[in-house]
Amino acid sequence: MEKRLQESLQEEQLIRGFIFACTRETETECLNSLLFGTDRVYGPVVIRIRKGDLIFLNNVDTDVLYGVFKAVSDGGFKILPDAFGGRYPYQVRVRNLGQLIKINNAKEILKRFELKRNTPLFGKKLLRFLDLFVPQPTLIHYEDSVDDETATLIMQEKEKIRRRVDERDIEDEIPLIEATTFWDFQRQSYGLTPKGDNKYPGVTPALIIYNLVWRYTDPGDLVVDPMAGSGTTLDVCREEKRRSICFDIAPSRPDIIKNDSRNIPLEDNSVDMVFVDSPYGDNVKYNDDPNCIGKISSESEKFYDELEKVMKECYRILKPGKVIGWLIGDQWVKGRFTPVGFKVFQRLLKYFEPVDVICVARRGQASHRGPWFSRARRYNFYLRGFKYLFIMRKPENNSKNSEKPRKIKWTFYPRG
Ligand SMILES: C[S@@+](CC[C@H](N)C(=O)[O-])C[C@H]1O[C@@H](n2cnc3c(N)ncnc32)[C@H](O)[C@@H]1O
Repeated sequence: MEKRLQESLQEEQLIRGFIFACTRETETECLNSLLFGTDRVYGPVVIRIRKGDLIFLNNVDTDVLYGVFKAVSDGGFKILPDAFGGRYPYQVRVRNLGQLIKINNAKEILKRFELKRNTPLFGKKLLRFLDLFVPQPTLIHYEDSVDDETATLIMQEKEKIRRRVDERDIEDEIPLIEATTFWDFQRQSYGLTPKGDNKYPGVTPALIIYNLVWRYTDPGDLVVDPMAGSGTTLDVCREEKRRSICFDIAPSRPDIIKNDSRNIPLEDNSVDMVFVDSPYGDNVKYNDDPNCIGKISSESEKFYDELEKVMKECYRILKPGKVIGWLIGDQWVKGRFTPVGFKVFQRLLKYFEPVDVICVARRGQASHRGPWFSRARRYNFYLRGFKYLFIMRKPENNSKNSEKPRKIKWTFYPRG
């Protein structure tokens, strides 16, 4: 009974289409093992594949498109760790939907369908794409004719897609990770579900955490946010298949643990990444808790002393070689500028080695409206236009990064 229920739920889920790439070198392994793989760049796409989705394989060397495959596992990380010599750890297991169909001129087809590598095929577009694989006299791409059984199986998939087509025919664009040190996100969240609460004072743009998580952790790794606010880190980690533990002095939801970040109840060297978006001073009222560091002015050294206690704890819980991302902005209040970012960076340098510094554009600020722009011009001050994201690493035991050989193999650039 339960099995039947599961099967019918499976039937009900929205079917999407995903295209994997292979080369002359990897095609045989893909087709023989019925396991397709890709690298970290498309990791965010692969982990969103669900059992039952439709999969296609594009040999980029021979310009051939193979189909139709059906995912028999969810997309995952290292399903078969040794497959493809370990180079393509984001994988999915598939089965053939009937006979293997081979279509030439893949590049031209993918261009015609305006397919982006980071966007799954949905609804009507997926239906049109499947039309390529069922026999129609007008299509000239086929090498072999398609047998009746295969055509029926594809038609059945089309019927399932058609049933849901008007209901949710929206594109779930999967963000690509940023390539430069300037990040400018138009929205606080991404994807189809909210991440954190965009009404929370000082909520973090979710794509900051998304980018850090995809660059510095693997699926299943543990991410900690000691000042979690509305829980943006929790929601991003859940969607990106990382484990997370989040604390706050005044939890805004039940899955955030009440805790003062100057004393984190976790073991030494146990965490794969820490993200902190701390108060920038006493400019925002977060809560009434007397231990909230957001009650201390960033014009006073005490503010940095207290944040340093948080840094020390983050250092203690992080595994050696792992990364912390710390988001912070400067302050200009009542005619006085405080370089909060530089001061926090100085403190961080006492514990961590710098990996990089990102400039994050500030959007949707209360001060970015109406009279503030003319005041800033008239009275000769600047509105805050950016925040710093400091990416730092806990040094490896007994080794300094600078002493490591710096040979880079661009085809597979490890995180180190
Ligand atoms: C900028 S907000 C974090 C926003 C959060 N990342 C989000 O997306 O909603 C800073 C948070 O630090 C918390 N906080 C301040 N002092 C704290 C302390 N001593 N221990 C733990 N959390 C603290 C505040 O309650 C506030 O929620």
